[in-house]
Amino acid sequence: MPPAGRGVRRRYAARVPHADPAWAPLLPAEPVELPEGFLWGVASSAFQAEGGDVPNDWVDAARAGRVPANPGNGFWQRAEADFAQVASLGIRHYRMSIEWSRVEPERGRLDSAALDRYRALCDAAREAGLTPWVNLFHVTHPRWFAARGGFLRRENHADFLRYVETAARHLAPHARHFHVQNESMVYVLSSYLLGQNPPFVSNREAAFDMTRHVLALQADGYRAIKSVDPALVVASIEVYLDPRPRDASDAAQRAAAERFDAWYHGTLLEALATGWIRLPGREPEEIPHLRHALDVYGFNYYSSVAFGPDGPGSFAERPDAPLDTMGRYVFPRGLEEGLLRVANALPGVPLVVSENGCPATDETFRIRYVAAHLAALARAKARGADVRGYFHWTAVDNYEWQHGFSDARFGLIAFDPATLRRTPKASAHWLAGVIRAGRIDPAQIP
Ligand code: FCB
Repeated sequence: MPPAGRGVRRRYAARVPHADPAWAPLLPAEPVELPEGFLWGVASSAFQAEGGDVPNDWVDAARAGRVPANPGNGFWQRAEADFAQVASLGIRHYRMSIEWSRVEPERGRLDSAALDRYRALCDAAREAGLTPWVNLFHVTHPRWFAARGGFLRRENHADFLRYVETAARHLAPHARHFHVQNESMVYVLSSYLLGQNPPFVSNREAAFDMTRHVLALQADGYRAIKSVDPALVVASIEVYLDPRPRDASDAAQRAAAERFDAWYHGTLLEALATGWIRLPGREPEEIPHLRHALDVYGFNYYSSVAFGPDGPGSFAERPDAPLDTMGRYVFPRGLEEGLLRVANALPGVPLVVSENGCPATDETFRIRYVAAHLAALARAKARGADVRGYFHWTAVDNYEWQHGFSDARFGLIAFDPATLRRTPKASAHWLAGVIRAGRIDPAQIP
């Protein structure tokens, strides 16, 4: 009789690499356990989901032909049904945002119906069994605020902080989790350094000014929300870009990646850890209440940036690395190492992956992508990063800034633009299975 134990041991010890050689190095070959109590969420933003003719800077830029138009995916009208559908997958957290231009369409004039609608959204989410996480700034500004110069002018900060406090006060009994802003450093990068997004500024000094301002606003916004109720949870949100040289033996590429990293990640992490803002060529500035102006670090991750001979691009470890529909390579190790780096920089601060997902039209691709990144998250956790949850970007396909409604589809759920009818995709069913089981089973990865 064969010794039973040996057979069992062999079964668990056997590694079953994925059959696709491009994915095999990225996907788990053994089951990956996700801890009990792990937070499963989805993330979205107001303008990307709601769209519509709101008085904001992106609607104006679309009119001027500089960005795609955004009819929305119908969330504003049918959020309640979306919440129910998302909750049916076993998801329990919903990150959304407030479109400031709806709430304050003209400076100083609050639209209480819009505020009430957002309050009703928080209630509807809770009724469906979802905890709302409410973000107060996600890429768009009201037209009037943009016209006054946005965050770049210090005298405008009071307008934003007044809105932050008003929104928190109005929503606080209905939502307990807030964010001051989404990806403030990417906002500075795309809108003030690269000049790709409104207000299309490309100026190093403006970008450094803005870096200082968005950090100061994190400190002040955190304080404003806590002034409403100190028990509210305020999470930061930043996307990890993980700059790397394309060729690690190339000194110029290494230097370019390091310079970018020092500004983009280094400034933010040091500021949150110490309250000090250090920018090249500027006097260091201390904002004491910026130190630990967060209760949770929201870590977004999609892919890593490579600095190569032709400037920045997408980083791949191997030439056959899978590529998404926005031309970015899949590189889950960036998520693992990034989580560990943030955990080391901010000891004692819990983390959530506040966005992760991929632009894809192929569900096999999306499932593999999510599986690979969840496995990377689990590795970071096993190595000591205190990661409490994962928010998939996004629930229903939505507007993707420069790409509009295109093949850059990040949703677990598709929608029909004519009828707004929702259809869960294969990835939604797969993720629901992972949540139910509390583990990723390699045999279930297509
Ligand atoms: C993030 C943004 C979000 C969405 C995803 C794909 O960087 O926060 O609005 O566009 O990328």
